[in-house]
Amino acid sequence: MCGIFGYVGTKPAAPILLDGLRALEYRGYDSAGVYVVGQDVVKAVGSIENLAQKLDSTMSGTIGIAHTRWATHGPPTEVNAHPHQSTSAAITIVHNGIIENFRELKAGLADQGITCVSDTDTEVLAQLIGFLYEGDLVKAIQQALVQARGTYGLMVASANHPDQIVIARMGSPVVIGIAPEGNLVASDPSAVLSHTKEVVYLDDGDIAVVSKDSYKISTIAGTKVDRTAQTIEWDAESIQKDGYDHFMLKEIYEAAEVIKNTTRGRMLVAQGKVKLGGLELVLDEIKNLDRLVIVACGSAYYAAQVGRYMLEEYAGIPVEVELGSEYRYKVNRVAREGTLGCKVNRVAREGTLGCKVDRVAREGALGCEVNHAVGRTAVLAVTQSGETADTLASVRKAKEAGLLTLGIVNTVGSTIARETDAGVHNHAGPEIAVASTKAFLSQLTVMVLLTILIGRETGAVSQAQGREILQGLQDLPEVLEKYLQDISDIKQVAAKYSTYNHAMFIGRKFHTPIAYEGSLKLKEVTYIHAEAYAGGELKHGSIALLDEQFPVIAIVPQDDVYEKMISNIEEAKARSAPILALATEGDEHIAQVANDVLYIPQVHPILQPIVTTVPLQLLAYYVGVEKGLNVDRPRNLAKSVTVE
Ligand code: G6P
Repeated sequence: MCGIFGYVGTKPAAPILLDGLRALEYRGYDSAGVYVVGQDVVKAVGSIENLAQKLDSTMSGTIGIAHTRWATHGPPTEVNAHPHQSTSAAITIVHNGIIENFRELKAGLADQGITCVSDTDTEVLAQLIGFLYEGDLVKAIQQALVQARGTYGLMVASANHPDQIVIARMGSPVVIGIAPEGNLVASDPSAVLSHTKEVVYLDDGDIAVVSKDSYKISTIAGTKVDRTAQTIEWDAESIQKDGYDHFMLKEIYEAAEVIKNTTRGRMLVAQGKVKLGGLELVLDEIKNLDRLVIVACGSAYYAAQVGRYMLEEYAGIPVEVELGSEYRYKVNRVAREGTLGCKVNRVAREGTLGCKVDRVAREGALGCEVNHAVGRTAVLAVTQSGETADTLASVRKAKEAGLLTLGIVNTVGSTIARETDAGVHNHAGPEIAVASTKAFLSQLTVMVLLTILIGRETGAVSQAQGREILQGLQDLPEVLEKYLQDISDIKQVAAKYSTYNHAMFIGRKFHTPIAYEGSLKLKEVTYIHAEAYAGGELKHGSIALLDEQFPVIAIVPQDDVYEKMISNIEEAKARSAPILALATEGDEHIAQVANDVLYIPQVHPILQPIVTTVPLQLLAYYVGVEKGLNVDRPRNLAKSVTVE
């Protein structure tokens, strides 16, 4: 992760660099640093504001590079903070990514008498460029990058070349912002939005020389390449707090707006159909899929799990959900499944067990896909940032295997958005708080749309059913707006549950992944130890943890597994665990079972996970606030994980 930001222009660089870093702080906040060409490097441990206090904002110089760090190699100390310089100080760099062979490179430099002062992989790269530099900066960088193995979004500045910065990309995002008062470079387009909406994305293997009124892109080997400029749709206002105490709260309160934006122009309610322009060209392939593998990390992984329940129950296609960090290494498994035979039998077996949705069993029983298995697997990446390294690697692996690759991506222009064959943009707008909230809701919403799209194509969803669900989705923003008007019950409950050191989240079916997401949210922003289980699984071991100090947060809307959940709650209660239930408005029975109840509106079952998510996000938020924590930037985390 880490954020890099650069400016080559006509205005004083220091304040522009600081503002750029503030916009990128969500990518890491262990330390920060700035180099304005011609001045000394300034670094500080901790937040950008610590750096701002040390930086002379009247410092002259109109070109500079800056960095905000999420520590990978070496603790977050000042010496490990970027920018890093070669011993001669001729070369100064900032870097996002990991140089995997830095130990070998470091040893090679040591043989030449060059010693590194920090623990970082980045300093090794700075020293290597410095060592290779003989007056031609681009050439030295090219030579160094040929030797370096790993990932980088890289910016290099040198007082010997005071009119330019050189940038390069391999695996970590880099974007150039083209503005009237000079050019900017950043890890993420949101950081240049206050200057320009016109951006150029670098591709892997690109190296570019950026000066105040031009940029020249070539491959590392030196071949010139053209990259077209694109216009960002977001505006700078959408990344302000808008009067809310934290971005997290603002983003939770955007729930209704996010659903409107995600569904706008995509629902043909009367026809019970969905139109997703980005998938039109591959619709035939999608409706004939034998298997959809969804890959994702973090919250997006739980959204994918909910999507699996939706797609299997309503659209009748077999779905697997894989963590990006696992799927990418399962090279042989995909090849085997791609070959004839084994998939169909597997699905049939699952169906026979009776624990899965019938339609999947029927498809398995048909056995008709056996001969087309290779062409009928698609890999769908779900990712807010579109840059998560493990998800990206999974997409690339799927492409190499010749599979259709799809994306549900929030960030337009991101690597995964560009590299997948087809996909859907969330249109949730920039998400700034590190813990994902509105993007998660948007991902669930896209999953509903995808389910109807595929279900109508395969015939598994009838027109009437499609219409009913889409009508519910159309009404959902109003339902959520109304719900969010009074959340005093959540604040009260948060005060009580913030005093516990543990929490156990349980749910069933669609709400099993929601229980996991609820527990992840609580862990992320409150540091309370939280676990999550499918309600029926709790008794197989983890119930041993429960006592009067270990509350259970049960997601128990009135659905087809309500009675089963009540039994699971009783089991937990019998072990003295305090029970906080998320239950349907009007459910009178639940108050007799649970110690505390948060009531939620009832909607169509496929939409219910969207509604149950909101109070869980708010619960985590208010517990975090109650504990006096920085909920927008929890310790040890970063929003966009571009390291592996
Ligand atoms: C990080 C964030 C999570 C996020 C995950 C996946 O770990 O802290 O909130 O869910 O990455 O990110 P993506 O951008 O791929 O959705």
